Amino acid sequence: MKESTMEMLEKYGQTHLLEYYNVLDDQARKSMDYQLAKLDWHLLDLLEHPEERQKRGEIAPIGALSIEEIREHASEYTQEGLAAIRAGKVGALLLAGGQGTRLGCQGPKGVYNIGETHELYIFELLFKNTLDVVRQAGDWIPFFIMTSDRNHNETVLFLNEHHFFGYNPDYVFFFKQEMAPAVDFNHKLLMEKPDRLALSPNGNGDWFSSFAHAGLLERAKKMGIEWLNAFAVDNVLQRIADPCFIGAVIRNGCVSGAKVVRKADPEERVGALCLEDGKPSIIEYYEMTHEMNYAKGEDGKYLYSYGVILNYLFRLDRLEAIADAYLPIHMVEKKIPYIDPDGICHSPETPNGYKIETLILDMVHLMDNCLAYEVEREREFAPVKNKEGIDSVETARELLKKNGVEL
Ligand code: UTP
Repeated sequence: MKESTMEMLEKYGQTHLLEYYNVLDDQARKSMDYQLAKLDWHLLDLLEHPEERQKRGEIAPIGALSIEEIREHASEYTQEGLAAIRAGKVGALLLAGGQGTRLGCQGPKGVYNIGETHELYIFELLFKNTLDVVRQAGDWIPFFIMTSDRNHNETVLFLNEHHFFGYNPDYVFFFKQEMAPAVDFNHKLLMEKPDRLALSPNGNGDWFSSFAHAGLLERAKKMGIEWLNAFAVDNVLQRIADPCFIGAVIRNGCVSGAKVVRKADPEERVGALCLEDGKPSIIEYYEMTHEMNYAKGEDGKYLYSYGVILNYLFRLDRLEAIADAYLPIHMVEKKIPYIDPDGICHSPETPNGYKIETLILDMVHLMDNCLAYEVEREREFAPVKNKEGIDSVETARELLKKNGVEL
């Protein structure tokens, strides 16, 4: 092991990682050396200095383009958006590297069958939604899919087996996100095996650097793409590469846009779009005070009522400009399988540590402006997060049926 790695382990109090090092064979040692050399020590720095992570500026409400305003200009926006799609300027980017632990799925969330009487997969719904726009525009839209080490092969295999649900495979591009180490509640890095750190996907915030590392940024630029519509895998109702949304962002001279819904109630657990030090920002529900949740404007409406639904449009040149910026890290309590000092493997039933993630919502704050674009919750927001209860398979099925989708 390199001396510098040893120094880092000591500096950050992580020498327990070497518990098994001396009994490993040569190959396993090399593998550990490699993993340790790749470790982003900056993350550990941030763990030790939580104040660096939590600095917030001055928060103020942001205005949104309301459903009524959008309706008034729908035709003009839609034409603008379709023109951009036809000119090859728009790419769709599916963030599908998550683990879907709340849903309890083993593999990729997109392979979940939400149908009742026939098979209807989440991926299928997303491709079908995009195909609607492809038909409207008369042109294919490049469709990028971010996976992770944990689900890449299964995703690729599944989509090939299902012939991309009618999408043209020449326009589908995969790339993998990076993995990040997981720590226990004392910030000690966890091991999954004697020669393997416990790693998990590093959140959905690093997608642009993974996209670039995979060579797709250069490729996208060569294709003439100027806008990327990034969206989550689990909202089965969302409109993807929505021409009206794209056109609205362009016409309003913005460099980014976020689809938002009016919060169902002031305390709903969604991130709210706001201004932070005059720039767009998303404040998480747990950061909102009671006063903020219930503050009303002169029109009697709640001021912080625009919840984001993880469907963003970014101008590619602005993404490039912020590519080197550090995003704040978030620590998410998770059940992390680990090996203890006696070599026994555990699969905990309750959270035993943190996954370290960066989030796409923090990219919004790095943009000069962001158009908050209001959509009808009942028509565009059906996230499949949990097995039961709020934002579950059940609630998404109900909403799909309400929108005429046969299950
Ligand atoms: P979630 O925050 O719902 O996370 O992701 P998750 O991992 O899918 O699910 P839980 O929290 O374990 O239940 C929101 C979106 O971001 C993607 C997900 O695939 C989903 O589309 N994501 C999340 C990534 O692409 N990578 C990640 O590391 C995390």
